[in-house]
Amino acid sequence: MYSNKSHTYLSLLLSLFLIASAPTSESRPAFACDGATRNLPFCRVSLPIQDRVGDLIGRLTLQEKIRLLVNNAAAVPRLGINGYEWWSEALHGVSNAGPGVKFGGAFPGATSFPQVISTAASFNASLWEHIGRVVSDEARAMYNGGIAGLTYWSPNVNIFRDPRWGRGQETPGEDPVLAGKYAASYVQGLQGNSGKQLKVAACCKHYTAYDLDNWNNVDRYRFNARVSKQDLADTYDVPFKACVVEGKVGGVMCSYNQVNGKPTCADPDLLRNTIRGQWHLNGYIVSDCNAVGVLYDTQHYTTTPEDAVAATIKAGLDLECGPFLAIHTEQAVLQGKLGEADVNGALINTLSVQMRLGMFDGEPSRQPFGNLGPRDVCTPAHQQLALEAARQGIVLLQNRGRSLPLSTQLHRTVAVIGPNSDVTVTMLGNYAGVACGYTTPLQGIGRYVRTIHQSGCDSVACSNNQLFGVAETAARQADATVLVMGLDQSIETEFKDRVGLLLPGPQQELVSRVAMASRGPVVLVLMSGGPIDVSFAKNDPRIGAILWVGYPGQAGGTAIADVLFGTTNPGGRLPMTWYPQDYLAKAPMTNMAMRANPSRGYPGRTYRFYKGPVVFPFGHGMSYTTFAHELAHAPTTVLVPLTSLYGLQNSTTFNNGIRVTHTNCDTLILEIHIDVKNTGHMDGTHTMLIFSIPPAGKWVANKQLIGFEKVHVVARGRQRVKIHIHVCKHLSVVDQFGIRRIPMGEHSLHIGDIKHSISLQITLDNIKT
Ligand SMILES: *[C@@H]1O[C@H](CO)[C@@H](O)[C@H](O)[C@H]1NC(C)=O
Ligand SMILES: *[C@@H]1O[C@H](CO)[C@@H](O)[C@H](O)[C@H]1NC(C)=O
Repeated sequence: MYSNKSHTYLSLLLSLFLIASAPTSESRPAFACDGATRNLPFCRVSLPIQDRVGDLIGRLTLQEKIRLLVNNAAAVPRLGINGYEWWSEALHGVSNAGPGVKFGGAFPGATSFPQVISTAASFNASLWEHIGRVVSDEARAMYNGGIAGLTYWSPNVNIFRDPRWGRGQETPGEDPVLAGKYAASYVQGLQGNSGKQLKVAACCKHYTAYDLDNWNNVDRYRFNARVSKQDLADTYDVPFKACVVEGKVGGVMCSYNQVNGKPTCADPDLLRNTIRGQWHLNGYIVSDCNAVGVLYDTQHYTTTPEDAVAATIKAGLDLECGPFLAIHTEQAVLQGKLGEADVNGALINTLSVQMRLGMFDGEPSRQPFGNLGPRDVCTPAHQQLALEAARQGIVLLQNRGRSLPLSTQLHRTVAVIGPNSDVTVTMLGNYAGVACGYTTPLQGIGRYVRTIHQSGCDSVACSNNQLFGVAETAARQADATVLVMGLDQSIETEFKDRVGLLLPGPQQELVSRVAMASRGPVVLVLMSGGPIDVSFAKNDPRIGAILWVGYPGQAGGTAIADVLFGTTNPGGRLPMTWYPQDYLAKAPMTNMAMRANPSRGYPGRTYRFYKGPVVFPFGHGMSYTTFAHELAHAPTTVLVPLTSLYGLQNSTTFNNGIRVTHTNCDTLILEIHIDVKNTGHMDGTHTMLIFSIPPAGKWVANKQLIGFEKVHVVARGRQRVKIHIHVCKHLSVVDQFGIRRIPMGEHSLHIGDIKHSISLQITLDNIKT
């Protein structure tokens, strides 16, 4: 399935390792509790975790405690506790982007799944959870082998607010419901569902309103995001809340930026009151790397380092990525700015997570997951899932006159052109590891037909047009042309936001010239994290089809070829709006407002608030077959019980909608049944998106995604899909004070071309007096 070349290379590496290190033990020494200390209470598996943590903290000196407040936590040899590196990453596969993971020896690589923006495009929640399970199998295996940690600072669930953001690729897109579902599913997959025990601890980042890296001389270390209570509650916080409440995540990371004048890592409202108080985080809060130093040195938020220590720990920070707390906390305590009890509070949260991970249970090989080892990494099944994920994330944007799928009979020779046509690591995106192996687009297409290859450009930046002529010649000689264009990490990445939305350099010219020269159908394949304004291609009658493949991971080339030749019928949908280039001039990246402000010419952000022209809309994606919907069952009237007299006393309640805290949300779950018919001639997967529009009047009028479901339907077949709608969560809106309310009246549901109206009416029958 994977290129022979990389297979040979891997097996060579493996055998070299086996020769070199065969006699040594494969498993790591226990983290703690296996030697002389194993009978101390903190090592007793039978005791409740809080008692064990309390016992351990009682044995530590202040200096020892302080050295546990940072990512490279120091050992406590007299208690038999080893040092620990908290910083590991696993955004889409175990990654060496953090110091906690080091590939090598028996673990030369790990399964590299598509970048998150591509996986999100599958709109398949069970796929997200499945990937999480596989990644944590490999992570545990690598931990057992002594080369990885158990605390992973993934996923990144910031809203992809601005199309220029260099890290948009890492996120599940622009919609809060989609991002929330992704967060909960991936986290559950990673952490496992075995009650109190954690397989690995995930961490949702970067809390909150962080989605600008470096734009127009404003960078993330200095940016003060001005965010309204309304946008915070109904956009920026939604995925984090889902991550904590539904995903039960073990960690949350606060961001570099300020929100309304306060660094997030020093804001007790955000950390202590929201994440812990309202959402009940059972886990730890960590700073982004050096964020505590940044708020002191760069933002000058406090006048002394000790005040920075006190401000962050008192706000609810438990762990710093970086050295600042290890250096300055002792002075802060001596100066009385922070109590030892505050330090203990932080350690309770971090040590509890380590205990739930089994790190204080002694010998790892006798624990659950203790049997996972090198043979559980890069297994055929894991690599097959990476391929499956890549296929599910590919989005067919345009298919003029059924140019696709190509036919191996008619298109025996295909010209494969473009700077991304034979790439390997580009397919992974950022926060990647070392893949098990790669199939490039050229290799994938080469399995179906004869290929003629021309890169056309020296790089994605495409500094000149010297190679355009030979590319045109190739297209003239072939029966069909596939151009693999787009971006890579030189254009969009961490600390690099894009300056424009067009294809870089003269890529556009290459595409148009090759399309003009081509003898057969022309397919444009776009590899990128962020959206690209490809209006020129959309409007060029010579370009038959356009595919967006995101960064499709190690198996990307196979998946692309499978879609091109129709072995896979594409079913992905865009998780973000594709804006035209001129959108940018009206929307400075620093403007955090989600809602449009027409009087100032501000267009608003994402499909929920922006009403202007688009290149391709959120949710867009075609198939080689056609689907039709029929509503089989849906309520038309729903009674919403008012359960609080407080709500009744206020005469404005009825106009404002009732607060979700003033009704019985658990009973307000609606069931809708929809029949999906495949009306075409090819089996296919339909991604059903359900949008709702609140009653007319003061509420925002644009639609909002409230649910999605993926269903496979054979040609001419029919499948019934049952959707649950949670009234408090999905039919509510957030007012300007950040309060979630359910508007009474007609809510309009849109499912494909079906519209259905549900009338919400207040009832006073349940008032408790
Ligand atoms: C969703 O993904 C899973 C892989 O975990 C796959 O088995 C399933 O078929 C997918 N659903 C659809 C409808 O394609
Ligand atoms: C009634 O609701 C309005 C609008 O939400 C609010 O301004 C007002 O304070 C409320 N009155 C009482 C008595 O709570």
